[in-house]
Amino acid sequence: MSDVILYDDNYEKLKEIDWDFENETQDAIAKLHPYPARFIESIPRYLINLLGVESGSSILDPFCGSGTTLLEAQKLGKSSVGVDLNPIACLISRVKTQALSADLIEQGDYIYQIAKKKYEEGDLEVPLIPNLNHWFKLDVQKAIFSLISEINKIENNNIQDALRFALSSIIVRVSNQESDTRYAAIDKKAKANDVFNGFQLAFKKLESAKSGVDNCYEAKVINKDILTVQKEDIDKKIGLVITSPPYPNAYEYWLYHKYRMWWLGYDPLDVREHEIGARPHYQKKNGQTEMDFYRQMNTVFLLFNECVIRGGHICVVIGRSVIKGCEINNAELIQDIGEKIGFVLVANIERNISATKKSFNLKYGKIKKENILVFRKDR
Ligand SMILES: C[S@@+](CC[C@H](N)C(=O)[O-])C[C@H]1O[C@@H](n2cnc3c(N)ncnc32)[C@H](O)[C@@H]1O
Repeated sequence: MSDVILYDDNYEKLKEIDWDFENETQDAIAKLHPYPARFIESIPRYLINLLGVESGSSILDPFCGSGTTLLEAQKLGKSSVGVDLNPIACLISRVKTQALSADLIEQGDYIYQIAKKKYEEGDLEVPLIPNLNHWFKLDVQKAIFSLISEINKIENNNIQDALRFALSSIIVRVSNQESDTRYAAIDKKAKANDVFNGFQLAFKKLESAKSGVDNCYEAKVINKDILTVQKEDIDKKIGLVITSPPYPNAYEYWLYHKYRMWWLGYDPLDVREHEIGARPHYQKKNGQTEMDFYRQMNTVFLLFNECVIRGGHICVVIGRSVIKGCEINNAELIQDIGEKIGFVLVANIERNISATKKSFNLKYGKIKKENILVFRKDR
């Protein structure tokens, strides 16, 4: 059961919820593409419903990942802005929140057939990607390459995004990587046909999961390092921020999506370089410390101060992490940053993390609680 500490009696309604959401099941759209450490949908949904968003203002998630906040905002009839450094995160967020083209299945079937034919004709030269033979069988490489080459020729961005999403969703499954959270090579016996059939099934599932979903409220997705984002990039009045920043030395989003990025033509090493919290920054000699995380989050909070309207709220979901053997209480750092900037902490919710959440960092897996800090901007 979660524990809600209130600093303002006007927020009694936050106490009526058990924020552990133990029996939560994933919705059909969330299941389509793996993403580590994503929100359970109830967290943004309840925060939006209980805190409200002033009419004419939007919801911001500056670390939007797979777009859970944006999709929940859309379901509740609110416009939103999401930022993420990771291009796979932005692809997922866009596809989840954009209406699909009516031609998706027809175009997908066409790509499937033409790519399969080119694969069977046989003279495909796969691109130079580091360690490709370690992670993918040669036939699988050729099948992926054949599909991505055809998808990249599509002129309609909406269909191209949807098919890139479908292909990206199956990359780890057809690789030699043990699982999305286990970075070890094993023989999974994947064949070229698993790539073609998996791809076809993925775009069909996407179409079926999204049928009947109303995507008419705008969700703007910005693919940028949040530390470089300006108020002008957001370009909207923000009434509510709901976000879960990357915890220092916990998850590694760039590593999780490394081969998805190589195949889709992005540079994972560039993403690693700018990814807040990524373990390589903390593990090298004279590496980053929690004070670097403090400075990064301070920059993000200064952006909130510029974009959020008076009376608006900022909700940050954050857990502890372990840096060089010491447990760091990131919620305390965030509370200090928010209060020094002048936001008022109205609630601190401590929730239990589900045992099924997995990370590459085993030490992180031992941390069982996280906090939801709710601030209000009064001036
Ligand atoms: C905890 S995840 C967010 C998950 C999200 N709430 C969801 O439901 O999918 C944190 C996100 O921060 C992103 N991130 C890390 N460093 C960043 C940076 N410098 N700028 C923008 N996003 C960054 C990661 O790519 C990751 O998607």
